[in-house]
Amino acid sequence: MDSFLINGGNKLSGSVDVNGSKNASLPIITATILNPGIYTLNNMPELRDTLTMAKLLRMIGAEVEFSNNKMIIDTNGCDTPEAPYELVKTMRASFYVLGPLMGRFGYAKVSLPGGCAWGPRPVDYHLKGLERLGATIDLSQGDIIASGKLKGGTVVFEKSSVGATGNILMAAVTADGVTKIVNASREPEIVSLGHFLQKMGAEIKGLGTTEIVVKGTKLTNNNIDFDIIPDRIEAGTFLISGLMTKGSISVNKVDYNDIEIVVDKLLEAGAEIDSSENQISISYNGVINPVDITTAAHPGFPTDLQAQWMALMSISSGDSVIKDDIYTDRFTHIAELKRFGANISLDQNIAVVKGVVSLQSAPVMSTDIRASASLIIAALSTPGKSFISRIYHIDRGYENIESRYASLGADIVRISE
Ligand code: UD1
Repeated sequence: MDSFLINGGNKLSGSVDVNGSKNASLPIITATILNPGIYTLNNMPELRDTLTMAKLLRMIGAEVEFSNNKMIIDTNGCDTPEAPYELVKTMRASFYVLGPLMGRFGYAKVSLPGGCAWGPRPVDYHLKGLERLGATIDLSQGDIIASGKLKGGTVVFEKSSVGATGNILMAAVTADGVTKIVNASREPEIVSLGHFLQKMGAEIKGLGTTEIVVKGTKLTNNNIDFDIIPDRIEAGTFLISGLMTKGSISVNKVDYNDIEIVVDKLLEAGAEIDSSENQISISYNGVINPVDITTAAHPGFPTDLQAQWMALMSISSGDSVIKDDIYTDRFTHIAELKRFGANISLDQNIAVVKGVVSLQSAPVMSTDIRASASLIIAALSTPGKSFISRIYHIDRGYENIESRYASLGADIVRISE
């Protein structure tokens, strides 16, 4: 298992390009199953998760080529509508094949994901939604077996869910009749998935709102070239790093509208920000103010930046309150941040961070993708050598993170075992 050795304390400077979005890529890869054809996806990040999804598509019978951030998928030969436990247990987003497999085959056998480091993470909305569209759902030896001819219907989510919206959206595009998704996800990744489906010929209205309406139709376009949107979480991670290392960096190829709330919070924290539609520059301006956040569905503060924000707040000039309302157990990074000397207490899903003047270097361990990012940021801000183990987590979500931080002046090396 690889580790990072970080000799922290360098102020980051220079500019960095944001890669394509992991969370937009994953459902778009699975959407190609819906209609036999050849799909070219540009700006695809080369991550463990996109490689895992490519592997899953091959198991289903697709041909996938992936190099130089371009993925070409030929779904003509798909003939095995199954996602086995071995893959689903390594990446929950494998569950995104359920909707497209039902749309194409009227049958899917997909392993039920277990819990994860952030808690139980159920998939009941996905399953109830498919039942609303007429599917029969059974559980057999840990696998969900879904079958039946889908018909349009109204699916009401109790809570906004990115994954369930994506799955039902993909299932609905070829169903008979009209499907209404109420309390739908407004996340940019779901909007982008919708745009991809529209290019395939799907009839979808209301993307980016809480009510999406899909008129089932035969998909007509099966030779598509599509660009993956920039990763807003990666952009936010870099911006927070710039401020926490008291540096000055520009983040390019970003969509400002997708992370407006994060920029607002960085301004409140005292950063100097200069932005255009596709570039955001951030500079330390002598202070890091304490700023409270509560995670929420888009356009609220993303839970995927909660851990990184907590790292930043650990050296703010006062007390801040960080509440995660999306994943109430997503706090495994606290114990590791404390090893750096952070002063954080947790009561249920509310963390109180008392800012300290600076952190101290330490050996720490990654526990999930975003928690790992928070540890890297903390280590970069701290003079001395920090060792971060189990960084395979970060490789799931950030491409070549060490060389990109190094290009900003960080002293970070990967130690391969
Ligand atoms: C996606 C993202 C993840 C992000 C999360 C929230 C991908 C691959 N992953 O995960 O990085 O942190 O959105 O922005 O895009 N819920 C249920 N039942 C369900 C589904 C969800 O109760 O069937 C609950 C969850 O426990 C959670 C909330 O709904 O409290 C939102 O989860 P959801 O948006 O579904 O997250 P994911 O799609 O799994």
